[in-house]
Amino acid sequence: MEIDLSVDLGSLNLANPVLTASGTFGYAQEFSEFVNLNRLGGVVTKSITRYPRPGNPPHRIVEVSCGMLNSIGLANVGVDAFIREKMPFLRTLQCRKIVNIAGECIEDYVAVLEKLASVEEDIDAYEVNLSCPNVKEGGRTFGKDPEQVFKMTRALRQMTGKPLIVKLTPNVSDIGELGKAAEEGGADILSAVNTFVGLAVDVERRRPILGTVTGGFSGPAIKPLALAKVWELRQAVDLPIIGIGGIFRANDVLEFLLVGASAVQVGTANFVDPSISEKIVDELEQSCRRMGISRIRDLIGALETT
Ligand code: SIN
Repeated sequence: MEIDLSVDLGSLNLANPVLTASGTFGYAQEFSEFVNLNRLGGVVTKSITRYPRPGNPPHRIVEVSCGMLNSIGLANVGVDAFIREKMPFLRTLQCRKIVNIAGECIEDYVAVLEKLASVEEDIDAYEVNLSCPNVKEGGRTFGKDPEQVFKMTRALRQMTGKPLIVKLTPNVSDIGELGKAAEEGGADILSAVNTFVGLAVDVERRRPILGTVTGGFSGPAIKPLALAKVWELRQAVDLPIIGIGGIFRANDVLEFLLVGASAVQVGTANFVDPSISEKIVDELEQSCRRMGISRIRDLIGALETT
């Protein structure tokens, strides 16, 4: 049986639903010796900001039971160096190239998009990070406020015809409100979820392990939480959703598709096995064959609740 793994997220077509999550896959080139990148649905870059950022003081990553906490602080080379040093490799890829952008205010995001316009023909979509829990200004502040999410999305919508993916925080009581705000602002796609705020303690030293005290919790433990958030979003908006949270196996991907995601991003798993994203694509095909599913898209939103 021929298995068709392709999915459409509005005008963004993917050969399969497996993307890599921002901040867990560098600028993609770092993983090219472990993964045939062209077998993926696409790659999502680290968050790119207006100016280079060194990130937060150490420790910035700590493994905890069933997951990981990070407080990277959006460390990246900045948009100028990104265009100069990272785009040449990205433009050689056949899979979808999604550039994640971040900032501390609307003007920052606008400035990044303005610069990226010069290489936009080699970019398939933008993911707008409105959800980083680790920087004082920016995502953490305005990503929780539906009005700010609306304003940011609207401002960026006016600047590009490329698909605009808005990445949402789960650290709110009503993620549907954020999704609706992004939809009204002109987003094409939502991605959910970014990390949950968490804290790890060094008991001997009586100190937090992370330099910023709290960080973003990710990994297998958050999968049920993320599935519930995607399900909640699915009821609130009509936009395609990219599900993120604790995906390590093909079965995890299928769970996200059933609750209404059209694609997924693999994140923390890349730290455990740098070749896992491609393995998940292989495994997805086998799972579909075993289940007698010829078109994976038929599973999207097919969860039966009654
Ligand atoms: C970070 O750089 O601190 C993590 C990015 C994010 O959670 O959006």
